[in-house]
This record gives sequence, structure tokens and C-alpha cells, in this order.
Amino acid sequence: MTEARTPPHRIALIGGDGIGPEVLREGRRLLEWARDRRGVPLDLWSLELGAERYLRDKTALPAELQAEIRDTASAILLGALGDPRIPDHEHARRILFGFRTGFDLYAQIRPARALVDRVVPLAGRGHRDIDFVVFREGTEGAYSGIGGQLRRDTPFEIAIEEDVNTRHGVERILRAAFDYARRERRPLCLADKSNALRHGHDLWQRAFAEIRRDYEDVRAEHLYIDALCHELVRDPARFSVIVTTNLFGDIVSDLCAALAGGLGLCPSASLNPGARVPGLFEPVHGSAPALAGRGIANPLAMLRSAGMLLDFLGHPTVHTEIERACADALAAGECTRDVGGALDTEAAALAVIQRLT
Ligand code: NAD
Ligand code: IPM
Ligand code: MN
Repeated sequence: MTEARTPPHRIALIGGDGIGPEVLREGRRLLEWARDRRGVPLDLWSLELGAERYLRDKTALPAELQAEIRDTASAILLGALGDPRIPDHEHARRILFGFRTGFDLYAQIRPARALVDRVVPLAGRGHRDIDFVVFREGTEGAYSGIGGQLRRDTPFEIAIEEDVNTRHGVERILRAAFDYARRERRPLCLADKSNALRHGHDLWQRAFAEIRRDYEDVRAEHLYIDALCHELVRDPARFSVIVTTNLFGDIVSDLCAALAGGLGLCPSASLNPGARVPGLFEPVHGSAPALAGRGIANPLAMLRSAGMLLDFLGHPTVHTEIERACADALAAGECTRDVGGALDTEAAALAVIQRLT
């Protein structure tokens, strides 16, 4: 992936809310294994950020801590943020976007690869049919935060949410996806809504037409996002690298996760390739309040996120080992109930880690 800082690598560990801390505990266990058994030089740095702290003292992500993470950490491993006691999600946005937009982590990479046939929900499809990597633009689009409300709580209320698409932002995520598709020899699909959104998504169309000329060896196609959702379910084997906007990438990564066995299995990395900023690694899933405190959350999305983190630090073979151990544990049925097993969170993580000698 990208170059990280020189070792030992400082890794900020943030559990967050709901099932976040429960799965992060297992992510930490895996990083300790990588440190102690594979010699990856890691300096694990636990931080208390999330709903509890916000409710206590209104602190979400203090500016000094954000700067210290930016200047000293190689990566962040994050559980999830979101708590029903904070219905406006203020703390979650401040923390998540404090990293994603704050560190300009524009390449949000969400692989959804099915590890075993048993977890694929489509009849007649096997795990080899399901191998997507969503390149989600991570800093702009509908998540720009630009907008406002007028005449709130009146019948004449107006709410505006701007969709920001910059030439710079669109080009760099397209190039990141094309570079990956070239390196991995995979086909690429751009998904947008340029038939309806004539300004912002027309920019995506024009940038795509220009950039694809630099990648004539990459098989590239375009689909409107609605058609992509239809075709993903009908003919998943056709798709591999999917590049799209921030909002569509959020939605389509959950769809891809469902096809790959569910949110309990799928990891995510937010990177700024080439820049000296930490990468952010987290499951695609959220804090799943209904599962919190019951010890039944699937830890594999977190373990695979930690695997991506180790790859980012320059240990691709350790990442491959982790992916294989996850597949073997799933194949043996040693997993949580969302993927057909009966283990609790800790036991499901140990089933993976014990396969790693
Ligand atoms: P969610 O991802 O938390 O849950 C969606 C569904 O997936 C639920 O049925 C849940 O039980 C299941 N699920 C999720 N993770 C699982 C796991 N590890 N094991 C087994 N099943 C799992 O999405 P939601 O319910 O829409 O959101 C809950 C909260 O999380 C909200 O506050 C939302 O804003 C937040 N959220 C945060 C992040 C993040 O921190 N990056 C991502 C998504 C949602
Ligand atoms: C995700 C989440 C976040 C997003 C929310 C919690 C703001 O859904 O990480 O996928 O939309 O990016
Ligand atoms: Mn999401």
C-alpha cells in the first residue's frame, strides 16, 4: 500500500462505542501476536474516545490529541462510533471526520472478498464469485458538511446539503483505483449518477474519460449506481474494483459486504497514499447497539482490518496469513452466530489467532 513511518510503529487504538471496544480488544490481541511472534515493531497506544467521554466532558477529539496522532502515529485501529444517547451523532462525526477529512484520507478502500462458499447468500454462487474492492472517495461529496437550515421547525423549513466534487478530489481517487486495478490486473467500474446529477457527476465522467486514456491496459466500464446495485446481485463475478463517490461508496460497501457474508466480516482502510499521515483501519460495520455488551459480535471484520494495517506497515505476508486463518476458522464453523457458528467474540478471535503459529 503506502509507506508508513519508520519503526517502531505507534498505533492508536480506539474502541469507541457499542461493539467497538469488544472487537477492538481482539484487534489488539492480533497486533500483540504480530509484535511478539512475527517481530513487527509496534507501540500500542490506547485512547479513550467515544460516547462515554463525550457525555462526561463534551470532548470528542481534542485538537492537541488529533495533532499528536497525526504527527506520531503510523496508523489508527478503530472499533466503531455511534451511541443512541447521542442522537445527533455529533461525537461520532467529529472523531471519524477528524481523522478522515482532518488527515485528508481520500482513498477509502473497502475489500469485500468472500472467504468460504458457506457465507455467500446468493444461490448458486461460490466464494470465488465475490471479490470486490470498493474505492470510496473519503473526503468530499455529500459529506462536505456545507449547507444549512432555514426556518427550522416551521412548515416552510429549508434544508440544504451541498455535494462537493473537486477536480483534484475526483482525479486522485480515480487514479488510486486505476493504479490498484493495473497492479492487481483487475477490471474497474466507475459508478456515479451523472444522468441525474449534471454538474458534480459530469465532472466524474469527464475526469474518467481523460484518466482512462492513461490506463489502456485496464478493462474499465461505467455504470450508473442504481444499475450497479442491480448487477452486483445478478452477476457479482463481473465486478472487481469499484470506484465511486463518498455517499455511494458508503452504501455500496454495505451491499458488497452482504454479498461477501455480512458486515461482521468486512474491513476498511482510509489512506492518503504518499503522504506522511496515519492510515485509519476499521471494520465497515458500526457500533451495532443491539449486540453491544453481549459478547456475540463477529470480530473478523476487525481482525481483517488489523491485517490491512499490517500490510500498510510493510508486512503483506502477515496479512495473507491472517486472511487464510480467517478463512480456515470460518470453514471449520469456528465463528460467531451471524455467520452460522456458535462462538462468542473472544472465542471466534482465538479460533483465528490459534491457527497462526
Ligand atoms: P451497524 O453496522 O452497526 O449494524 C448493521 C447490522 O449489521 C445490524 O444488524 C448489526 O447487528 C449487524 N452487525 C454489524 N456489525 C456486526 C458484527 N461485528 N457482528 C455481527 N453482526 C454485526 O449499522 P447501524 O445499525 O446502521 O448503525 C449503528 C450505529 O453505528 C449508528 O450510530 C451508526 O451511525 C454507527 N456506524 C458507525 C460506523 C463507524 O464507526 N465507522 C459505521 C457504520 C455505522
Ligand atoms: C461508515 C459509516 C460512516 C460513514 C457514518 C457513521 C458517518 O457508515 O464508516 O461506513 O458514512 O462513512
Ligand atoms: Mn457505512
